[in-house]
Amino acid sequence: MKESIFDSHFLWGGAIAAHQVEGAYNEDGKEPSTADTLLVNEERFEHYGEYINQNKYYPSHKAIDFYHCFKEDIKLFAEMGFKALRTSIAWTRIYPKGIEEKPNEAGLQFYDDLFDEMLKYNIEPIITITHYETPLYLAREYGGWKNRKLIALYEKYARTIFERYKDKVKYWMNFNEINTLAIMPALGGGFHESFDDPSRFQRIYQAAHHQFVASALAVKACHEIIPDAKIGMMLAGQLSYPYSCNPDDVFANLKQSRQSLFFSDVMMRGVYPAYTTRMFEELNVQLEMKEGDLDIIKNNTSDYLALSYYMSSVVMSDTSQLKKIGNMSIGVSNPYLQTSEWGWQIDSKGLRIYLNQLYDRYQKPLFIVENGLGAIDILENETVHDTYRIDYIRKHIEQMKEAIQDGVELMGYLPWGCIDLVSCSTGEMKKRYGFIYVDIDNEGQGSCKRYKKESFEWYQKVIASNGEEI
Ligand code: BG6
Repeated sequence: MKESIFDSHFLWGGAIAAHQVEGAYNEDGKEPSTADTLLVNEERFEHYGEYINQNKYYPSHKAIDFYHCFKEDIKLFAEMGFKALRTSIAWTRIYPKGIEEKPNEAGLQFYDDLFDEMLKYNIEPIITITHYETPLYLAREYGGWKNRKLIALYEKYARTIFERYKDKVKYWMNFNEINTLAIMPALGGGFHESFDDPSRFQRIYQAAHHQFVASALAVKACHEIIPDAKIGMMLAGQLSYPYSCNPDDVFANLKQSRQSLFFSDVMMRGVYPAYTTRMFEELNVQLEMKEGDLDIIKNNTSDYLALSYYMSSVVMSDTSQLKKIGNMSIGVSNPYLQTSEWGWQIDSKGLRIYLNQLYDRYQKPLFIVENGLGAIDILENETVHDTYRIDYIRKHIEQMKEAIQDGVELMGYLPWGCIDLVSCSTGEMKKRYGFIYVDIDNEGQGSCKRYKKESFEWYQKVIASNGEEI
């Protein structure tokens, strides 16, 4: 076989998250998380973090029933040759309200069984401690991450899972896409803020500070309990370009990129960056800290940077020109790029640029733990001809190769939603990412059967050839 650009330990696989696949939202002692209050499409955030209306359909309650079907699914991942699988632990399976003295044994047992199943096929578990699902009790009664008390509760939860799975899990990461807190605290922060309220930044950055301290304490605990483990931070990849070479656009872009890189700067370097003072002055933020917080952050930086990468955006200083791009961001469209069916601007070369930027900035290993194309798939003769997905992933792998040759240290590639799952931004099932089709629709109807798409066999070859046959 031709020698590969990827080293022999490169972690090929896929990524999923508890609330988007497991279902069984109230089984075996689990209580709801904020994700279990999310509806579909326009209604998605209608009563976020408040209550569950038994007459409505909540996609996370059943999801793709991974809780009951995981053995079948892991077998399919093994057939594709996965070396790693990223998933998350649902905090509410372990500490159902978040405040209990003792963990829930049934919840712990579920993940023991899941990890054993992965290890049976030599699939390395890559575990996110929390992926957009704060225990609902903590959201309602404590105000989510605005409340400093969550630091100790998170540390307790993290210590519990490190102790329990220390012989099974060697790769961990703290909060999923921690930087989305700055834009949408409802996802990872457990509290909702209106875009029109300028005072929101005070609460958002206070919550971020709590998550930084909590993450650092988890890094410390992880290193103590599992000395041979690595624990990373996880950033939503938000590559942006200036609209023009007008210095005003260039500076606007610098400012916008700092909005997300602020999070990795703190967690990778262990200090609040110099630009924080002015950024906080402009946003009217005054952080409350306890003595020792900054030392904890400084002494417990992340071992690697995990990132998601789907698209890039364009920043213009003239904000009157901004419009809604896709279902997630506000910006200017890029005439050089095509968009997905959900309007996300596809930019494979941007991946090379972004990996280089991040590696130049931190000089620590990078790990792509999400990437992929959300598309409408048509099931015909028990398969899907998803050549568009193959094309998207192939182009991104090509750029990963370039980045590695540029000198970037890359640990692995875990495409998002390797099996179809509930969309995070819209709650839909019809926005599919997988190599495996799951027969469920937006209303939760369908047989729940699994079918291999054309991309299944293609990705199997990619892994078998260590990225050479794409
Ligand atoms: C990331 C999240 O932002 O993007 C995932 O970590 C999410 O949870 C993924 O599913 C894709 O977004 P969407 O909205 O298409 O599901």
